[in-house]
Amino acid sequence: AATSIHSSYEECKETAEWLLNRSTIRPVVAIICGSGLGGLADKLEDSTTFKYEDIPRFPTSTVPGHAGKLVFGKLVGHDCVCMQGRFHLYEGYSIHMVSYPVRVFSLLGVKTLVVTNAAGGLNDSYSVGDIMIIKDHINMPGFAGQSPLCGPNDERFGLRFPCMSDAYDRELSFKLRSAAEAMGAAHFIKKGVYCMLAGPSFETIAECKLLQTLGADAVGMSTVPEVLVARHCGLRVLGLSLITNKVITDYNSEEKANHEEVLKTTQRQTKLLQDLVCGFLKV
Ligand code: 6GU
Repeated sequence: AATSIHSSYEECKETAEWLLNRSTIRPVVAIICGSGLGGLADKLEDSTTFKYEDIPRFPTSTVPGHAGKLVFGKLVGHDCVCMQGRFHLYEGYSIHMVSYPVRVFSLLGVKTLVVTNAAGGLNDSYSVGDIMIIKDHINMPGFAGQSPLCGPNDERFGLRFPCMSDAYDRELSFKLRSAAEAMGAAHFIKKGVYCMLAGPSFETIAECKLLQTLGADAVGMSTVPEVLVARHCGLRVLGLSLITNKVITDYNSEEKANHEEVLKTTQRQTKLLQDLVCGFLKV
């Protein structure tokens, strides 16, 4: 029902039709830009831009560094839709609203989702500035009953019990690596497990150590809800984490995790990430 906290098919359809009526682009690829990584949206050609606040039933964004617009356009010849600024649980959105845009993308005709984020490096072999291809995730909010797939299932989107063992597409990850090799940027590429926490606080030292023992390589506050919904409705997913900082696991360390460091690294590496996504679309 329209009053439900869940994102109903009819609501998503209404948003999708509103957008399709206002653009000639028919996106097959959707790109969700993480913190400080929204510059990619400015590279779209023949673009049409919609502020989130103007899109029927869309949530609106609140964090500095998250612009809050949806851009339709062409990127290396592909019709794309790009989210400049995403929604986070820590902003107070329900997990259903966080992932609402992905259902809309599916109804627009999108087949492939590229998600980027800024993440803390848990794996000791990672360096600040590395780009981790997400090969798998740990859905911590899911352990606590927070999944965007909770609630009545609409079979028009997908199965009641969708498989997640193939959430991250291997062929797309190979393509990304080829693009990196072709650009001479292979040394920045890692592959690992992304763990989502709700935030907004950064992790304690004990939590960082815990996540390391759990097999997580990077930690962040996004991406997993969107991927769950994307896989539910059959989109292929490429996930990329920019390692913006190393987590702190030493009680004697004077360092502190902070948003400024995250933004500083994204500024330094955002062009590489953009070039990688463009290279990926060319392969
Ligand atoms: Cl260290 N933790 C979390 N949860 N998210 C981050 C991060 C750390 N660095 C960037 N994003």
